[in-house]
Amino acid sequence: MERLLIRGGNSLDGDIRISGAKNAALPIMAGTLLADGPSVIGNIPDLHDITTTMELLGRMGVRLTVDERMRVEIDPRSLTNCHAPYEMVKTMRASILVLGPLLARYGEADVSLPGGCAIGTRPVNLHVEGLRALGAEISVENGYIRARCSRLKGARLVMDLVTVTGTENLMMAAALADGTSVIENAAREPEVVDLANYLNAMGAKISGAGTDTITVEGVERMQGAHYDVLPDRIETGTFLVAAAMTRGRIRVKNTAPPLLDSLIAKLRDCGADIAIGDDWIALDMDGRRPKAVNVRTAPYPAFPTDMQAQLCALNAVADGVGMVTETVFENRFMHILEIQRMGAEVKLEGHTAISTGVEYLTGAPVMATDLRASASLVLAGLVAKGDTLVDRIYHIDRGYECIEEKLAQLGADIRRMPGELAVNHA
Ligand code: EPU
Repeated sequence: MERLLIRGGNSLDGDIRISGAKNAALPIMAGTLLADGPSVIGNIPDLHDITTTMELLGRMGVRLTVDERMRVEIDPRSLTNCHAPYEMVKTMRASILVLGPLLARYGEADVSLPGGCAIGTRPVNLHVEGLRALGAEISVENGYIRARCSRLKGARLVMDLVTVTGTENLMMAAALADGTSVIENAAREPEVVDLANYLNAMGAKISGAGTDTITVEGVERMQGAHYDVLPDRIETGTFLVAAAMTRGRIRVKNTAPPLLDSLIAKLRDCGADIAIGDDWIALDMDGRRPKAVNVRTAPYPAFPTDMQAQLCALNAVADGVGMVTETVFENRFMHILEIQRMGAEVKLEGHTAISTGVEYLTGAPVMATDLRASASLVLAGLVAKGDTLVDRIYHIDRGYECIEEKLAQLGADIRRMPGELAVNHA
């Protein structure tokens, strides 16, 4: 397994270009299944989760063509089956996003239940209940969600809690339903809005995306469309936090600053000078140590759970006591145990990580447990004395495009190490 070797101590300095948003690209790629013809999707990030989605669609018979600029043409006309197998879904839970489109367009879907996850139980009951309310017949057989329908019928869907992919799945299903659907308590994440914009470009009639009430007037058919995915706000935020922690100065380009309001407010609280342009954000710590901040995660527009681990890493070396409370997932603190091994003074009380910042961390071999946890360990490595070796970095490759190249471009001492040969200790 490959690992990242980081020698800490360098301040980040320079410009960096942000990639397309993983969590917008994944539902949009699933959404291509709704069309009668091909779509061309641009600004797709070059990530493992994208490759997995391509493989998933490919196994359904969908034709995909990728050009050198990662623009992907996706043609669903050659689809031969509506099956998302366990071996794919278990590696990427977002595979569940094909459920709504397959059902709405083809009247059938057999999608494996995702199963366990490192950050919480993450059930998909609200996806299933919503589709049932739209008229689908759904059973769970042999670990698979077996869904069938003739044409889905518009309905009022009141979501028990805010779910991002749940909202996306139901919005896609409702797009081809007979009649109007209203999704209440919908997720307001920018990635939901991006998906709605793409679906509307295909001929869907969706309004209210970005608010908690989304109205979908079903249409009979949709055609393919050309669409560019929005920039990744979590990648943007991760680089900004990395710069703040290393007392550096960076400019992130090709991003969407209005989507980062909650994080920018926190970074200003921690002492960063921040300037904002149309599509860039510049952060300058002027060599200062960041001040610890208090953060509480919640659905958009509040502070994103996908930035929680990175803020824990920042608080670990910040001046003062900082509290980070996680309210979205029940078990998203695996990084705390690893950061403790690097000398962080942090304790967990229920869903809150309380840390008293230390001047510096010390390098150690650490293990990544999920995507954002691994990002936080890389950030910790950047400010540690000595070498940090981050293991299981396949997690990070799922969601960050060329992270070590981008960090090295900003002056970090970071290298990808080839995997060791497996040793059998049996
Ligand atoms: N939930 C249920 N039942 C459901 C659906 C969700 O109880 O049917 C619960 C979840 O267990 C969780 C909460 O609702 O406690 C919110 O989960 P949500 O459904 O919003 O998460 P998701 O759609 O599975 C997306 C992102 C995650 C991100 C969350 C929260 C994608 C592909 N994934 O997941 O991204 O953390 O929203 O913002 O969009 C990541 O990129 O690292 C990542 C994990």
